[in-house]
Amino acid sequence: MEDVRITIKPDVRIGTISPRLYGHFAEHLGRCCYDGLFLKPTSAPVPNQKGFRTDVLEALKNMPMPLLRWPGGCYADHYHWRDGIGPKDQRPRRLGMSCGEVVEDDNSLGTHEFLWFCEQTGAEPYLAANVGTGSPQEMCDWVEYCNSALDTTLTRLRRANGAEKPFGVKLWGVGNENWGCGGNFDARDYALEYRRYATMLRHVDPHIELVACGFDEPWNRTLLQTLRHHLDTIDHLSVHRYWHGEGGELDPSEKVSYRLFTEASLTEAFVQQTADIIRVELGERRRVGVALDEWGIWHPEARLQFDPDKRGGPYEQVSTLRDALAAAIVLEGFHRQCRVLSLANLAQVVNVLHAPIQTRGAAMWRTPTYHVFQLHAPHIGATALEVEVHASLLPVSEELRCVTATASLDKEDNLTLTVLNLHLDQSASVHFGGTEGRVLFDAQLLTADSPLAHNSAEKPDAVVPQPIKATESTQGGYLVNLPKHSMATFRLKRR
Ligand code: AHR
Repeated sequence: MEDVRITIKPDVRIGTISPRLYGHFAEHLGRCCYDGLFLKPTSAPVPNQKGFRTDVLEALKNMPMPLLRWPGGCYADHYHWRDGIGPKDQRPRRLGMSCGEVVEDDNSLGTHEFLWFCEQTGAEPYLAANVGTGSPQEMCDWVEYCNSALDTTLTRLRRANGAEKPFGVKLWGVGNENWGCGGNFDARDYALEYRRYATMLRHVDPHIELVACGFDEPWNRTLLQTLRHHLDTIDHLSVHRYWHGEGGELDPSEKVSYRLFTEASLTEAFVQQTADIIRVELGERRRVGVALDEWGIWHPEARLQFDPDKRGGPYEQVSTLRDALAAAIVLEGFHRQCRVLSLANLAQVVNVLHAPIQTRGAAMWRTPTYHVFQLHAPHIGATALEVEVHASLLPVSEELRCVTATASLDKEDNLTLTVLNLHLDQSASVHFGGTEGRVLFDAQLLTADSPLAHNSAEKPDAVVPQPIKATESTQGGYLVNLPKHSMATFRLKRR
C-alpha cells in the first residue's frame, strides 16, 4: 500500500470550471443518433418520447450533459439542414455519410428534434455546419432559421414547423476536420473560406460564437495568421484528440493500461500547446478558446467493419472501468486548463466510441465513464483550486502520478475533491488536508475487482459508485483507503 498526501489550497484559485467542459457529442454515425438516441424503423420498439428512447433520455438528464454537439463530425460536411425540417414523410432520403460509412438517411432526426432533445436534457446545443459541400448562404440560412426574431420567410417556416420563438443557438462550428474529411483543405484556403463564412454569419446574428476548425501546429498558426486582420471572426479553435492503448479494449496487460493512462494525461499538454499557439499568434488582441470538441479513447476494435455477434454496430467498443479512469484523468486536466479551454465534447454520447451510454435492442446500460461524469458533477460551474499531491510516479510515465486529484469550491462554499488511484495492484492510504473548518458530508467510490470490469445488457450495474468511508485524522484533514484502480469523490461543507 502506498502512503499519499494531498493538500488542497482553497486560496489558490485557478478559474471557473465552465459547464461547457463537460460536453458530449452526438454524430449521425453508426448507432449513436439513429437507434441509440432516436428510433429508426428497424429499432427495437422501446418506450420513447417524440422518437427519442426514454431510457436514454432519462439517463442523460442525470449524467450531466451541459453541452451537446451535433450532427457531426465528418457527417456535418455532407449535411444539409433543410433536409431535416418539415413533415417527416416529406423529408428527402439521402446518403448519410461519415468516416467511411454510407447509409440510408431519412432525416427524421433534424433540427427541431435535436433542439427539443437539448431542451429536455438541459444541454446547450452546439451545431456543426457544412463547409465541405455547403455554402456561406446555407449556413447563414440555418442561423437565421434558428435564431432570428424578425418576420422572414425562413422564420415563418420555423414557426410553421412548431417553434414560435427563436431557438437562440449560440455555438456554431464552421465545418469539421476540414484538413481531412471536411474537404482536404490547405490551412490558408480554409482560413479564407472561414473568414468569408464568419463575416457573413456575423451579419445574420452578431451574438453567435463561432468555432473554427484547427488541427496541428502549422495549420493553427497559418489559420490565425491569415485571420490576423479579422480576429473578431473567431471565438474558439476546434481541435480533436483520440488515443489508443497499445492493445485492445480488453487487453489485460499492465503496460497497456499504464500507457493508456499516460496517453489520457497527455491531453492536458495538448490543450496547453494549442493555447500557447493561440497566445503567441494573437497576444492580447483577441481571446480565442481551445475547443476540444472531440476527445476520448478509440480502441482498435471500434472500426467500420465489425462483428455483429460481438457489437451492435460500427465504431463500438467495450467501455471498461479502465477507460473511465482515463476519462477522469482527462477531466482533471480540464480543471487545470479551465482558463484556456473553452469547451470539450466526449466522443460520442451513445454507443459509438467512448460512450457513457450503450444500448442493445431494448436494453440500455450506463458505462463506468457515465459514472465518472456523475462523480464529477459537483465540479461543474465551480472554481478550480490548486491541489498538491505527493505520490509515486506511474511505472511508464515520467510525469503522471499513481494518485492524482483535483478540487473545486462551489458557489455555496462546498468543497469537492476527486481522487484517482491508478495503481493496478496497490491500494493507497490517502491523507487529504486543506479542509479546515469543513466537514465531510458525502463520499463515493467507483471501482471493481478488475480494471477491465464493465457494464453490459446482462449486468448493467456491475460497476457503479458506492459510499466509501473516510475518517477524520488527528493531524487535521481526512484519511481514506483507496482501493487499486479506483476513483472517489469527497464533498465537504462548512461546519
Ligand atoms: O467521432 C468520429 C469521427 O472522428 C468524427 O466524425 C470525426 O470528426 C473524427 O475524425
